Amino acid sequence: MPASKTIRRHRISTPQAQKTSGVIEVDHPLIRHHLTQLRDERTSPSEFRTLVRRLSTLLAYEATKDLLDRDEPIRTPNCEHVGRALSERIGLVPILRAGLGMVDPILDLIPTAEVWHLGVYRDEATAKPIEYYSKIPATEPVDTALVVDPMLATGGSAVAALTTLKAWGVQNLKLLSIIASRDGVRAIEDQFPHAQVYVCAIDPTLNDRKFIIPGLGDAGDRIFNTGRHE
Ligand code: PRP
Repeated sequence: MPASKTIRRHRISTPQAQKTSGVIEVDHPLIRHHLTQLRDERTSPSEFRTLVRRLSTLLAYEATKDLLDRDEPIRTPNCEHVGRALSERIGLVPILRAGLGMVDPILDLIPTAEVWHLGVYRDEATAKPIEYYSKIPATEPVDTALVVDPMLATGGSAVAALTTLKAWGVQNLKLLSIIASRDGVRAIEDQFPHAQVYVCAIDPTLNDRKFIIPGLGDAGDRIFNTGRHE
């Protein structure tokens, strides 16, 4: 069985290398196992946070396979050796709030990444994205941005974030979402055909409140234990 299911991939040129774009549903038994626990309504906020971290690590492993690296001469205790080191400027961009749950595990994998926060929430009545915070500077953009948000429902929030990053001048856009809907995936494909999208699962539908079905509820509320106040 392949490690990941490629829904649509094509090659695009960048000044540095050939990159692949498209939507990739990462298919792995560990992802299927932890995602099922994440979906389960009995999972506590503490367990939910742990599962988000595990799934983020697994997604990021797959999503960073094409990062560029360069020679790195070092000396081991025995001899000279030429190893490898990451050579790109990488930005990790959490969409507040829920994206915060994915930051630490990915920073553990890429300690040199810069973290640039974007605040977007979905208006409950219209399901349209409301942008309320941006830490994006006016200075030179990162080479690759990893946008993280556990949920891609209508796609409105991710489109808003990717639009901001494209305006900043980021060449390589990657979106990592634990769970997506078909509509959300389609929205990104239509508006950002050169972005890479990595998800653990693509669920079939949205309900009338634009929640992913079967989904996992509201990731932000489950991470931060705020759901009971709705
Ligand atoms: C959720 C989720 C995404 C967005 C997805 O955030 O974390 O950001 O909704 O929906 P969309 O694809 O239809 O835009 P929410 O608005 O609940 O904010 P929160 O992270 O502060 O809970």
